[in-house]
Amino acid sequence: MQGKNPKDSRTTMTDMVLPSETNPLNNLFGGELLARMDRAASIAARRHSRRITVTASVNHVAFNQSVPVGSVLTVEAAVSRAFKTSMEVYLDVWMEDRFSGERTKANEAIYTFVAVDDTGRPTEVPPLVPETDLEKQRFDAALRRKQLSLVLAGKMQPNEATELKALFLQD
Ligand SMILES: CC(C)(COP(=O)(O)OP(=O)(O)OC[C@H]1O[C@@H](n2cnc3c(N)ncnc32)[C@H](O)[C@@H]1OP(=O)(O)O)[C@@H](O)C(=O)NCCC(=O)NCCS
Repeated sequence: MQGKNPKDSRTTMTDMVLPSETNPLNNLFGGELLARMDRAASIAARRHSRRITVTASVNHVAFNQSVPVGSVLTVEAAVSRAFKTSMEVYLDVWMEDRFSGERTKANEAIYTFVAVDDTGRPTEVPPLVPETDLEKQRFDAALRRKQLSLVLAGKMQPNEATELKALFLQD
């Protein structure tokens, strides 16, 4: 299968934060942000694989900054590494200042999607070829994250997670 670049799957979704999506402090609910990220990541995974894709795991989410009602929020998603049937999708979330239009990073997240056939069986995806330095960094670290996710899910023995273990054994 021919490789694809992260830009082939890049997906950008911009939307406003409405009062019905906020908590009593008038900031965006975490679950609403997770749903927005899931949708953007799902489209990115579909663009990479051109298959039906399902969320296998939410590997990492950092709610570093609260997002007030009325904010304009942009979710950017792109496949950061493809394995056999699974894809890691990296998400960057940006908040736009109402007055200056300046964008600040609000959140980051990493999801895993699996491409499946019409019966829900995992099916192979094209390899990912990173281009920029950031894409290469994310690509390199993705294998460790996959191993950590599988270990936590009880689907891999810790002693099989070679690349993950190496991270802790460095001088
Ligand atoms: C995701 C799903 C297809 C995986 O099926 P499975 O029978 O476990 O299939 P496999 O063991 O062959 O795993 C398929 C791939 O997913 C990866 N995977 C499975 N669980 C994972 C996890 N927790 N973290 C990271 N990767 C995972 C495997 O490593 C494998 O990757 P690879 O082929 O690229 O090496 C299946 O569990 C499923 O359909 N889950 C429900 C999905 C869904 O409905 N999501 C929405 C939730 S509301």
